[in-house]
Amino acid sequence: MNRIYLIVIAAAIGLAGCQEKHTASASGSNSKIDHRVDSLLVLMTLEEKVGQLTLFTSDYDVTGPTIRENYKEDIKAGKVGAIFNAFGADYTRKLQEIAVKETRLHIPLLFGYDVIHGHRTIFPIPLGESASWDLAAMEQSARIAAEEASAEGLHWTFAPMCDIARDPRWGRMAEGAGEDTYLGSRIAEARVKGFQGKGIGELDAVLACVKHFAAYGAVQAGRDYHTTDMSDRVLREVYLPPYKAAVDAGAATVMTSFNELNGIPASGNKYLMTDILRKEWNFTGFVVTDYTSIMEMIPHGIAEDTASAAALALEAGVDMDMQAGFYNDALGKLVKEGKLKESLIDDAVRRILQKKFELGLFEDPYRFSNEEREKTTVMKKEFLDAARDGARKSIVLLKNDKNILPLSKSIKRLAVIGPMADARREMIGSWSAAGDWKKAVTILEGIKAAVSPGTQVLYAKGSNINDDSTKYLAQAIQTAKQADVVVLTVGEAALMTGEAASRASLNLPGIQQRLVEEIQKTGKPVVVVLSNGRPLTINWIDQHISSVVETWFLGTQAGHAIADVLFGDYNPAGKLTVTFPRSVGQIPLFYNMKNTGRPMDPNNKYTSKYLDESNEPLYPFGYGLSYTTFSYGDVVLDKNKISQQEEVKVTCKVTNSGKLAGEEVVQLYIRDLVGSVTRPVKELRNFQKILLQPGESKDVTFTLTQQDLSFYRKDMSFGVEPGKFEVYIGGNSRDVKKAAFVLQ
Ligand code: GLC
Repeated sequence: MNRIYLIVIAAAIGLAGCQEKHTASASGSNSKIDHRVDSLLVLMTLEEKVGQLTLFTSDYDVTGPTIRENYKEDIKAGKVGAIFNAFGADYTRKLQEIAVKETRLHIPLLFGYDVIHGHRTIFPIPLGESASWDLAAMEQSARIAAEEASAEGLHWTFAPMCDIARDPRWGRMAEGAGEDTYLGSRIAEARVKGFQGKGIGELDAVLACVKHFAAYGAVQAGRDYHTTDMSDRVLREVYLPPYKAAVDAGAATVMTSFNELNGIPASGNKYLMTDILRKEWNFTGFVVTDYTSIMEMIPHGIAEDTASAAALALEAGVDMDMQAGFYNDALGKLVKEGKLKESLIDDAVRRILQKKFELGLFEDPYRFSNEEREKTTVMKKEFLDAARDGARKSIVLLKNDKNILPLSKSIKRLAVIGPMADARREMIGSWSAAGDWKKAVTILEGIKAAVSPGTQVLYAKGSNINDDSTKYLAQAIQTAKQADVVVLTVGEAALMTGEAASRASLNLPGIQQRLVEEIQKTGKPVVVVLSNGRPLTINWIDQHISSVVETWFLGTQAGHAIADVLFGDYNPAGKLTVTFPRSVGQIPLFYNMKNTGRPMDPNNKYTSKYLDESNEPLYPFGYGLSYTTFSYGDVVLDKNKISQQEEVKVTCKVTNSGKLAGEEVVQLYIRDLVGSVTRPVKELRNFQKILLQPGESKDVTFTLTQQDLSFYRKDMSFGVEPGKFEVYIGGNSRDVKKAAFVLQ
């Protein structure tokens, strides 16, 4: 490469003149960067441009069905703009050196990875974390994930997952924020802010990626990758708001989903990727597909070959091809044959280069691949402490009828039984990326560390997680009989949720139900601790076990967090963000359903119900107990009539009526009783998490705005309609106090 040429390139992209680091403005770009991008673009060949639109996985980690052996040769040939599943200061530096030193234009690579709930320090799975209803804690965990990921050479995380999920058969419910649109939107915002921190360009910020756009959580039959089909009203009212909230929070990138939506796969869906995402929402970042999604438009049956799939995706508004290689294989030829406008490629390249400039990679391609920073950042004590705190906050107390909990730390003989007790790997859940499960604290270890020296902790495995072997059963029963109290740990294996992990049954797998029944028969006081990534139909447990704790998969500090709750060092305050059904036959079952014309009446055959099951969930959305109790006063409104320019203040006195300090998530729901289209029986519109000392009361006040009362009306315009509204306040979506007002 001769010197003159290098000087021309350096001048063109402003390397010489621009030493200061660029932090993208709120709109996601700035004019100086735009100029530098255009100056580089004019130097690029068509093949080099197409190379920037290509994302390949390294062989460091595998997160999908295909892998390419020669990705390093592809980098060298200028055929790759980004690599995922590669991390570590040293390894990313090595790959970056290939791109920067051995390609003609020295354009740096982007490094992406699924940093979903922590990078090295693993936090609770997102569904578990959402049960904390603590937005600040969720922002902090994403912030810590970004600090660790960016210290290991990563620029980009494929998170937050913003898919609303109402079907627990779908394993990816574990990766999201549950069934509610309002809460899911707030959590999406918090996670984007956490990942992107003070702004792209900061050394501890990573590009967020809003996924999976769109409505992936609505797969038919809860079966992963299946079809989604819905009205535009349901799409816009239920599924789109969390993605939009993430975009509005400044998310730098968006990922297309595997599913077809209303007949068109997301990766070829212009309505989603251009009309809604860019024209309605003014998204200025870039769009990447999910793993080989462009190729999958052939089996979807909407493209017959590589060229038509590639053209369909690019024209829909997809900028980057993850792992299919279809852009590389076909776009150049389509342009040369006059079948595709090169300007579409230029637009996509611009959006990707913008992010590389914003990250400061043209000033210093290796600025994130710093081994010193890596050593001093990863798994710091403060991060582990935050992970323990986040884990405790995620725990949901489902039952404690006889107040067995909190346990005394000086129990004489405490049995810890069950397949999850010593299941170290399972504790960090699915999508735990670079997390080292060998560093996770098991439930057994957490309990042993918490009890007094005089306590004898007995252990028995009881069963495997998911097979019918009974070889551990007898010993478990024997162990229980020797104990004063039993902590019985049951649940799913970590990878029974996450991607490609749908289940047709929600029962405890293997012979765990039999184990529970056998242990219950011993007559000992039993506390069931659940480790799972989705709601389970634990009806028998609910009927026969007096203390039940939902702990999800809590991450690196799982065992300590669980012990903190079991022994009362932390009073649980988690609330479910997904409905627990009684039976898989009730699905989809969610709190904000429609009333129907024949709402359930037990005394009237011809009403909406089952012959063989209740309509009611086992545990409703928003449900969770505490070691103390809370009482709710009447709901008081400052007006009982409002115009369409006014707000209404809603107040409820909440009292800690128990003996221990505790936190309560006070939830506000509304119901629009009559509309030009039917409205749900309840809709979450706000919440406040408050701490109350024993006997303390607090007037909790919310303001309901016109936006809160708005919906997609019959003509699909978004706004309010006059009429009567009911307002509900409570500690879950079922047990609420009510008031009413009229919107004139
Ligand atoms: C996977 C997942 C997606 C992930 C991507 C890269 O198939 O669907 O969530 O970000 O591939 O690993």
